[in-house]
Amino acid sequence: MGKKIFPCFTISLCFIVTLSLLMSKYPVSHGQSLDYNFYARSCPNLLNIVRYGVMLAVRNDTRMAASLLRLHFHDCIVDGCEASVLLDDTDDFKGEKNTVANGDSLRGYEVIDDIKAAIERVCPATVSCADIVALAAREAVLAVRGIFWPVPLGRRDGTTASQEAVNKQIPSPFEPLEKIIEKFTNKGLDFKDVVVLSGAHTLGYSRCLLVKGRLYNFRGSGKPDPALDSSLRSNLQSMCPDAGSSDNNLAPFDRTPYTFDNVYYTSVRNNAGLLQSDHALMGDPRTAALVNRYSTNPSLYPSDFIASMGKLGNVGVLTGQDGEIRQKCGSVN
Ligand SMILES: *[C@@H]1O[C@H](CO)[C@@H](O)[C@H](O)[C@H]1NC(C)=O
Repeated sequence: MGKKIFPCFTISLCFIVTLSLLMSKYPVSHGQSLDYNFYARSCPNLLNIVRYGVMLAVRNDTRMAASLLRLHFHDCIVDGCEASVLLDDTDDFKGEKNTVANGDSLRGYEVIDDIKAAIERVCPATVSCADIVALAAREAVLAVRGIFWPVPLGRRDGTTASQEAVNKQIPSPFEPLEKIIEKFTNKGLDFKDVVVLSGAHTLGYSRCLLVKGRLYNFRGSGKPDPALDSSLRSNLQSMCPDAGSSDNNLAPFDRTPYTFDNVYYTSVRNNAGLLQSDHALMGDPRTAALVNRYSTNPSLYPSDFIASMGKLGNVGVLTGQDGEIRQKCGSVN
């Protein structure tokens, strides 16, 4: 029923989009740019190692594709794409892992650690964890036959992390859309990126914790969210029972959680977005117009997704002499 796979598989279309992006390097701070050939000499097998590690992880657990994409987003949106999200708490700082947004829900750390270990064996002290996270997200989406986007490289790893920064910078599904847009704008992204990157919810599941308010007690009313499609609501109520501890049960973001398609947008348009923040996209005429556009005309999505992923991957990157190349992704050197 209206399920459309994005048509980036016409090789020629992918090729043209890719080529035009390859022509323009993304400008970053300190006049240094990320570079598609950054490791061409120093670690020529990098891409194969990442691709293989992601392929194994996704083959073992398809949901890992969504998890690796989310990991990249949560890395970049808090201060920048500098792998701070991977740092364990230390005596000096409480990091990003054990926060409301990430604790008990962010996944894929061990996939990145395994890939990093494999890379260290062949190119020691060369490839940043931040670049591995960025590449792994792309390879994860490819592993479920989604959209390819080019990933320029040369990010360096941050040397600190902050719990507080997560709480301030990560958008929450319970926030009003204006607040979410503001958090994106603070990173040089805009309302269009909010809609386009929300499309990542075409993959994966949410914990029931984030959904139960809409099912049983919307904004303290004691009733479900009247805006939620009633047949979806009954389905969700059986996946996420009110009684007992169903908070960590999982509910799919759309009917096809393992397929990178436009069902997310048709769902949102039909009052069947899972989270309040998904539904909120229909509450502003600018974002609603984009949801309508991608749901009715999916061929317009891939180039916008490629552009937004390019912007996301460039947020707050460290280059040149800034930061470091971590030996282990979970701790600074
Ligand atoms: C495979 O996936 C399961 C479920 O997520 C996980 O518990 C397990 O560690 C994974 N095994 C490997 C080898 O990655």
